Amino acid sequence: MSPEDNALLTQTGPGTPMGALMREYWIPAFMPDEVKAGGAPLRLRLLGENFLAFRSPDGSLGVVDHRCAHRCASLFYGRNEEGGIRCVYHGWKFDRTGQCIEMPSEPPETDYKDKVKIRALPVAERYGVAWVYMGTRAEPPALPHFDWDEVEAGQPLTVTFMMRECNWLQALEGDIDTCHVGFLHLGAATPDQFEEGSINYYRQMRENLAPKYEALETDYGTMYCAYRPAGDNLYHRIGQFALPFWTMAPSEPLDHIRARAWVPLDDHHAMLVTIGGPRTGATTLTKAGKPIPGTTSPINFLPNTTDWLGRFRIDANPRNDHLISREAQSTQSYSGIEAIPVQDQAVTESMGPVVDRTMEHLGTSDRMIVLTRRRLKWAATALRDDGVVPPGVDNPACYHNVRAGYALLPPEQDWLDFYNARRAVWSRGTAEPVDRKRRLAPAPA
Ligand code: FES
Ligand SMILES: [Fe+2]
Repeated sequence: MSPEDNALLTQTGPGTPMGALMREYWIPAFMPDEVKAGGAPLRLRLLGENFLAFRSPDGSLGVVDHRCAHRCASLFYGRNEEGGIRCVYHGWKFDRTGQCIEMPSEPPETDYKDKVKIRALPVAERYGVAWVYMGTRAEPPALPHFDWDEVEAGQPLTVTFMMRECNWLQALEGDIDTCHVGFLHLGAATPDQFEEGSINYYRQMRENLAPKYEALETDYGTMYCAYRPAGDNLYHRIGQFALPFWTMAPSEPLDHIRARAWVPLDDHHAMLVTIGGPRTGATTLTKAGKPIPGTTSPINFLPNTTDWLGRFRIDANPRNDHLISREAQSTQSYSGIEAIPVQDQAVTESMGPVVDRTMEHLGTSDRMIVLTRRRLKWAATALRDDGVVPPGVDNPACYHNVRAGYALLPPEQDWLDFYNARRAVWSRGTAEPVDRKRRLAPAPA
């Protein structure tokens, strides 16, 4: 990859093509209970910009530029009052539309306050998350959703946040790189620890380390299937990428609903926001009824701080080598790092804040990553050069009936036919089948 393409894909600040692409969409930004009615405001960094979220005493939410319009003191120190937030420097007060509504340091006869406004973002609370819209439309588009209404019909959605100290794209690429599971997470297991031919993916992932891949373009992004023998059948793993930063990973049998957003806080930090149903209890134990060492450990979160980057951090980080145990690595686990999400965190953070993709040597197992980069580049440049509105902004229905998971199929069965049959069931016959021949992003010259 050229340095220019790497910059285009990874930089999301104001004025960048990828930043403009992301600003077309609603962004899952914070947990609704991170701000209490009348309580302290929340420092919020998104796409390299600094905002402040606050909940007024009446419960309404505001997200505004953190700088006061007067002389730019931070409204983080402000007083959260009825109707708005008041700067403690000279008492200017702003409502949640950003309008200055009081200017007590100016003579009462002036109407100067009516002319002063700070930037405010549209904000919505839905699906267990507070969403913001950073784009330029006066009327924001509809919220996206990935069949979350179906989950909510039966039980509350499960929502988690977890920060990663690296660029959003290398973090996301870990989600669509399925063959690493057999190494990084399960490398210490042997296939015979698990029932032969079972759907238990731990066995299949170890039995055949180099699956065959197919990657496809879709209306909303890309999808892949990685498949390998499992007894007389083929074991398939189907995963999704949806613009601009969503993935669905095959961590359970096909049908489950769980979407993961890799939201750039800035170009060196991303927040993983997961929204979906509870785990369906995929079997991960050996025949002896034991977990593989290192896979089921708890994740230890540090207490949140008020820092721009102080939310949902874990104890393992690049400065403590992600708490690697060389002892565990040589005697029981493959990586020596505890917990699957921490293992993912360690390898993607170890690439550096922004991986230098000019140094890579991609293989066949990277087919999905290559296609997804191309899809992202095309969406960002089509928006920049021709004003093409990216998928999902004006047609959020394209995220419906998109799911990930694994499936055991006889070798003569086409996995995409199987997926499309399931899709017809999820959508009660209304969704278009995914077309293998669909081409949206032009192939590289
Ligand atoms: S800097 Fe905020 S009121 Fe003066
Ligand atoms: Fe992983």
